[in-house]
Amino acid sequence: MCGITGYYGNKNMGKYLYNSLKRLDYRGYDSAGIATLNNGKINIKKDTGEVEQINQKHNLEKTDGKIGVGHTRWSTHGSTTKQNAHPHLSCDERFAIAHNGIIENWKDLKSQLNGHRYTSETDSEVIAHYIEEKSKEMSVEEAVKKFFKEAKGSLAVVLLDSKEEKMYAFKRGSPLALGIGNDETFLGSDLYAFSTETDKAIFFEDDEYGIIDQTGYVIKNINGEEVEKEPENFDWDQEEAGKEGYEHYMRKEIGEIPQAVERLENSLNSAQEKQVDRFVELIKNHEKILFTASGTSYHASLMGVYFLNKADIEAQTLIASEFKNYERVDEDTLVIAISQSGETKDVLDAMEYSRKEGADIASIINVPYSSVERESDVSLRIMAGQEVCVAATKTFINQIYTLLKIANKLGYQNHLEEIPKRIEKVIEKNEPKIKQLAKELKNKNDIYIIGRGDTYPIAREIALKLKEIPYIHAEGMMGGELKHGTLALIEEDVPVISLIPEKNSEIISNVKEIEARNAKSIKISPWTGPFKFPNSNSKFPFYTIIIGFLLSYWIANEKNLPIDRPRNLSKSITVS
Ligand code: F6R
Repeated sequence: MCGITGYYGNKNMGKYLYNSLKRLDYRGYDSAGIATLNNGKINIKKDTGEVEQINQKHNLEKTDGKIGVGHTRWSTHGSTTKQNAHPHLSCDERFAIAHNGIIENWKDLKSQLNGHRYTSETDSEVIAHYIEEKSKEMSVEEAVKKFFKEAKGSLAVVLLDSKEEKMYAFKRGSPLALGIGNDETFLGSDLYAFSTETDKAIFFEDDEYGIIDQTGYVIKNINGEEVEKEPENFDWDQEEAGKEGYEHYMRKEIGEIPQAVERLENSLNSAQEKQVDRFVELIKNHEKILFTASGTSYHASLMGVYFLNKADIEAQTLIASEFKNYERVDEDTLVIAISQSGETKDVLDAMEYSRKEGADIASIINVPYSSVERESDVSLRIMAGQEVCVAATKTFINQIYTLLKIANKLGYQNHLEEIPKRIEKVIEKNEPKIKQLAKELKNKNDIYIIGRGDTYPIAREIALKLKEIPYIHAEGMMGGELKHGTLALIEEDVPVISLIPEKNSEIISNVKEIEARNAKSIKISPWTGPFKFPNSNSKFPFYTIIIGFLLSYWIANEKNLPIDRPRNLSKSITVS
């Protein structure tokens, strides 16, 4: 949710900022912009739309300068307009800022400042005016510290000071990293911002700020004391290979699932073996196991609860944004956080709450060096590689594979070896039928999906994908719940997808209830309905979600929708 970037050095400024923003645009793609310093003057180029469109219109790539900041926005305060796009300038045009997060007390801060002209409706713009005003009575550094102390909420800010020719960077809540090159310094919301340029980085902790100028950088705490931070060498081959002939990343990423699972399996057995053992030990040594996650990762956590249950370990899960309202944790609790990005604010908040109450924390993430990984006692990487499409697909499969592997180690007997090959076959054998079904469903307003046991989380996940990509209202439900209310909505021709792993009388009764109301009954099953599956009940969730992913993809394709960048969403949600 909003990506920020900054650069001090001799590269071609416009080209660097443009490429860095393209790599960050999964964090938000409502608008984008850059501010560069050239001959003592700040030049701003910004607009609504995706970075590539803005480049075509404003030639971002052809912008000179020695210092520059950039921003890609996911709108929170203020609608998606050019005025609300970052960077924002102070009235005297000395300062430009880019901000990720939410400043909760921006109105109070604004009320302290007199005579300033605001050009946007954002909470962020107040930063530029505040620093302008306060730096009349104190140094810019003191003004930054003062702002930092007074601001409430989450912030990662990059400030360009055109007079002193410096950048200031400060962080609380939202992520911020500094990359170290040869006579050049990079800033970014995450490593993607600059990982093409350097493999040396420093991660800011909360309440730290940095000053970047021609001599390099210095990092200080909120009291102005210098903090010695050892740069980390990140060994991270996460370069995105492009669409490789596919029309959309989503379809390409579904196709990558078999390789991603194989890579994960190898890593869990070799490079990550010790972490796996530690993870398993932590589960054994805690009385209470609580998962927490958001969205798709929450559906993975439901699978985790099911798998641990099969290994005779009681566990529960709760959506991260409600965790502190519904869960009591203590030193006998192990909290297992699951997050693809490792930056989801709701998850980080649940972890912070749990930590304060004395819990231990394990996590399962995809993006290496992310905040969730760094805040955990032990963390496993799911090795899915970069997922460019906003909708999670390959990362969901690798999350549930990791959970199944852990449950295996704890006693849930299950063979995992055949999963990658069989997923490949499921795609190959079923895609033509899925395309046909997509044509039949494209004009439907509502779709219901029912499952039981380990297909219940899959029903929820299919529903989420149908909402997110083809914009169809969908509900994923426990089959047994249908008759307790929702059945009232099931009438002639309403599509209901049933996930039926075996000849299980309970789910079959639910299907009968639907068919008795003349619904459009679609069965996903190895023994009935249009699709073909390997005969393996325990792995059915892995195969059936592939049908769900492809169905969402092909309906959206039929509707000509922006599949990789669905409206109003962002890949990394760093506000609560
Ligand atoms: C859906 C999707 C989201 C994310 C959610 C959590 O396709 O991608 O629902 O799963 O925003 O994100 P992470 O896993 O990064 O914490």
